[in-house]
Amino acid sequence: MAIVIDGKKVSKEIKEEVKEEVMNLKTKGEEIGLAVVLVGDDSASKVYVSRKKKTCMELGINSYEYILDGATTQKEILSLIHELNNDSRINGILVQLPLPKHIDERVVLSSIDSRKDVDCFHPENVGKLVRGDGEIFPCTPYGIMILLKRYDIEVEGANCVIVGRSNIVGKPMSLLLLNKSGTVAVCHSKTKDLKDITKRADILVSAVGKPNLITEDYVKDGAVVIDVGINRMADGKLCGDVDYESVSRKVGYITPVPGGVGPMTIAMLMKNVVKLKKLSIQNKENA
Ligand code: GUN
Repeated sequence: MAIVIDGKKVSKEIKEEVKEEVMNLKTKGEEIGLAVVLVGDDSASKVYVSRKKKTCMELGINSYEYILDGATTQKEILSLIHELNNDSRINGILVQLPLPKHIDERVVLSSIDSRKDVDCFHPENVGKLVRGDGEIFPCTPYGIMILLKRYDIEVEGANCVIVGRSNIVGKPMSLLLLNKSGTVAVCHSKTKDLKDITKRADILVSAVGKPNLITEDYVKDGAVVIDVGINRMADGKLCGDVDYESVSRKVGYITPVPGGVGPMTIAMLMKNVVKLKKLSIQNKENA
């Protein structure tokens, strides 16, 4: 049986560390603020946004929520971001994705001040990530790197296979693993013979959103399997991309859904806000 990677436990540890950093900053008179912008009423996004607010409160981070109507224009969103860019109480700005169809996501994400880009979605920060000298990293892949580290899983030289090429998970995941000297393959909907590639993985990350895509014949004995999928089934239960029952009998390590990658994403978001705050203090000192 596989070792179950406990994202809930590790995320608690990270949040404790962040809470202590927040308290230290507060004793020096420094407040930390995260602005979260939600446009429209996507039900999953609403849940994520309310969890972010709750976690901010638990850790002593000031949370500023902007819930906008689905008919809000791009110009109005850009104007709000402009205000937040110039608001000294705000250290991190998060625009919850997906945005409604009439909004150009790239324009909105590029309008966030790169020094407040808590998601690491701004082109400047994506560029730094590619170059391997980024200061912050996208929350979900960053959380996965922390899980691998805490479970002493070696990335250097490992065959890493990622299924999914999104800008939020698949692409940045490939860069983080490559920057740690993994040998990385990125598979997607047009990949031929997916199974032949995933079977060679020492570390397999699935981030596609297809329940039970990864069955036991897609993995090799002893592999590390990271399941980023969050799929809501007809009975209301959550399930990942991985057929947990059969795969967990064959591999060395596996993340459960829920309780694996999910809780890490929010913990890393909190870590990123504090990082941005510290960088802004450093920038002021060096000015
Ligand atoms: N939607 C799903 N995941 C994310 C994320 O990590 N950040 C943002 N901003 N939106 C998301």
